[in-house]
Amino acid sequence: MDKFLIHGGNQLYGTIKVSGAKNACLPLMAASLLVKGKIVIRNVPNLRDTRTMKKLLEIIGAEVTFENGVMEIDATNANNPEAPYELVKTMRASFYALGPLTARFGRAKISLPGGCAWGPRPVDLHLKGIEKLGGKVTLDEGYINIETDGLKGALLHLDISSVGATGNLLMASVLAEGETVIENAAREPEIVCLIDFLNQMGADIKGRETDVLRINGVSELRPIEFEVIPDRIEAGTYLITAAAVGGDVLVEGLDPSHLKAVTDKMLEAGANIEINENSIRVSSTDQLRATDVTTNIYPGYPTDLQAQWIALMATAKGKCVVTDTVYEDRFTHVPELVRLGIDVKLKGNAATVTGVEKLKGAPVMSTDIRASASMVIAALMAEGRTELHRIYHLDRGYEDLENKLRGIGADIKREKGPEI
Ligand code: EPZ
Repeated sequence: MDKFLIHGGNQLYGTIKVSGAKNACLPLMAASLLVKGKIVIRNVPNLRDTRTMKKLLEIIGAEVTFENGVMEIDATNANNPEAPYELVKTMRASFYALGPLTARFGRAKISLPGGCAWGPRPVDLHLKGIEKLGGKVTLDEGYINIETDGLKGALLHLDISSVGATGNLLMASVLAEGETVIENAAREPEIVCLIDFLNQMGADIKGRETDVLRINGVSELRPIEFEVIPDRIEAGTYLITAAAVGGDVLVEGLDPSHLKAVTDKMLEAGANIEINENSIRVSSTDQLRATDVTTNIYPGYPTDLQAQWIALMATAKGKCVVTDTVYEDRFTHVPELVRLGIDVKLKGNAATVTGVEKLKGAPVMSTDIRASASMVIAALMAEGRTELHRIYHLDRGYEDLENKLRGIGADIKREKGPEI
C-alpha cells in the first residue's frame, strides 16, 4: 500500500486545474448500459473508482476504452446483468448498475454494497422505488435479485433525498411505460448532469435542478457524446487547502455556482477569495475566524467537505462546531487529526474544534476518501514530517493529487508500497 511523505509549512503559489466530477461520471457510465451503440464521455477523471466502474461494465459485457480522459462505452452486446460482490464491496457506486440493468434486461443481480468504511449505508430507498416501478425484489446470500416483465411508471416519494436512489430511479424509469414522478429528489449538480445526459440520449425528464422530477418513458435511447461537469468536491478541497496553508492559489476549471455554500463559509471565516467565471483565487490571510458549519443536502454545505473544514479550523481563532446531518457517523478522521495536534472533541454528529497555535507532523492513516484529504491538508499545515498511510482511499477520488499539489509548491511525495 502506497503512502505519502509530507513536509508541512510551505506556502502554496500557482494554479490547480480541476478534473471531471467522480460523482457525476460514475452514474453516467452506468447509464451507458441503457443503450445499444457507442457512448463517448469526455473529461473522465483517471481514478480508482472510474477504473472499478470500467471493470464492472466489462463484466456485464460492455466494451470500454479509457485514455486521456476519454471513455468510450459500447454496451450493444452486454448480456450479464450481474454486479459481483468482489467489485461492489470496494465501491458503493457499483450499485448504480441496478437501475439500468433492470430497465434494459428486466432483471438484475447486484451484491449489497460496501464502499466507504463508516457506518451502515442502506439502499432501502433504491429498492422501494424499483418495487413501485414493478420490479420484484428478493435478497439471497448477500445479493439483491430483481425480476420484472417490464417497468411501469409510478409516483415515487423519497423519504430522504438520496443522491444514489435518485440516480438509480431516474435510470430505471426512462424506459418504463408511462409517467414516473420522483418527489424529494436530490438536486446535486451530479444528478442534474445525469438528467442532461439522459435527455441528450432521448429521454424525457422534466424538473432538472428541482426536487420533483417527471419522467415520461420512451421506447429507446440513442448513443451520444458528452462532457462531465467539473468536480466541485475536488475543487472545494483545493480551495480549503489554499486557505488553510496560505499563499496565492488559483483553482480553475470549476463552476462557482456549485460551491456557493462553501465560498460563503470561507468568506465568513475571513478567507481572501476572488470568484471568477470558472475559477476561484484564494490568497493569504491573517488568522481565520473559527466558523460553524452544518452539512446538508445540496445546495447546503456538502458532507464531502466536512472533514476538510475541520482541518481548516485547526488553527483558526476561537472555537466552532462542525455538524454532519447527512452522515451522522462520518468522523473517522477525528482521531487521526488529533494525532496531528488538532483540538477536536466529538459528541454525536458534532465536532467541536478549538484553534491551536500550530500542528505537528506525525504518522497517520487514511480511512475514507475525504477523511484522507483532511489529513493531507493538516499535514501541509503542520510543522515537520507526516507519513500518511493507506492512500488508496485518496486514489479513489482525487486525480493526480500529489502532482497537482507539488505544482503549487507543496512538499509531498508518494512512496510506493505493495499493490493491494
Ligand atoms: C453520494 O453517495 C456520493 N457518492 C457521496 O460521496 C456523498 O457523500 C453522498 O452522495 C451525499 O451527498 C457518489 O455519488 C458516488 P445518499 P450516496 O444516498 O448516493 C441515506 C464521496 O466521498 N440513505 O445521498 O450513497 C444514507 O445512509 C462519496 O465522493 C438511506 O437511508 O448518498 C445517508 O444517510 C462519499 N437509504 C443519506 O441517505 C437509501 O436507500 C444520503 O445518502 C439511500 C441513502
